[in-house]
Amino acid sequence: MPRNDALLQGLLSRRSLGGKHLVEPGPDDAQLQLLAQAALRAPDHALLTPYRLRVVRGAAREAMARLFERAALDAGKDAAGAALDAERARAAPVTVVLVARIDQGHPLVPAHEQWIAVGAALANLLNAAHALGFAGKMLSGAKVRHPALVQAFCAPGETLVGWVALGTDARAASGHGTRAAGERGTRATAAELLADWTGA
Ligand SMILES: Cc1cc2nc3c(=O)[nH]c(=O)nc-3n(C[C@H](O)[C@H](O)[C@H](O)COP(=O)(O)O)c2cc1C
Repeated sequence: MPRNDALLQGLLSRRSLGGKHLVEPGPDDAQLQLLAQAALRAPDHALLTPYRLRVVRGAAREAMARLFERAALDAGKDAAGAALDAERARAAPVTVVLVARIDQGHPLVPAHEQWIAVGAALANLLNAAHALGFAGKMLSGAKVRHPALVQAFCAPGETLVGWVALGTDARAASGHGTRAAGERGTRATAAELLADWTGA
């Protein structure tokens, strides 16, 4: 394949954007298919596909918001805090729920390799969404372990990884350019990441 600067630029420019900054439209059916295909192109030892994707959109957002509210109340938040969590849950036009299904006893592929495949699929999905012009963010939090949410999204033995909020960057939609990403923590540099192994 010849050098593809557009692809590289896409990978280098993706930034996460949370639900409160997202507006309609979110990805439609055909675009969701592309996101799933991109996820499936990620490295995956023995092609186990150790994950599932569930799309929450339209009226289902309200049902998910209610579950978020309940989880927040159970976690000790007051009514206003829980209502805010619910509001954030329903804010994204489309949410893709990422569910891992790790085969702990697989004879060839250890669990950590399956988890890497889950993460690689997530990264491909986010990058494909970016390439299609959407913004989004992967979110988790303690609520991934709340029984009602786990029951809503997982079969026995599966793990609720979290929610990928997807939509259109509100500022891009209003013609005011894209939103600068707010970063928590300090991102490592490529120079810090790379080191020669000399064999010594
Ligand atoms: C599995 C997973 C769960 C995450 N959960 C949260 C979360 O609950 N809240 C949050 O602010 N960021 C969370 N993040 C991080 C954001 O999705 C995002 O990667 C981070 O803010 C860095 O932004 P960037 O993608 O623009 O580099 C999570 C990331 C991953 C991979």
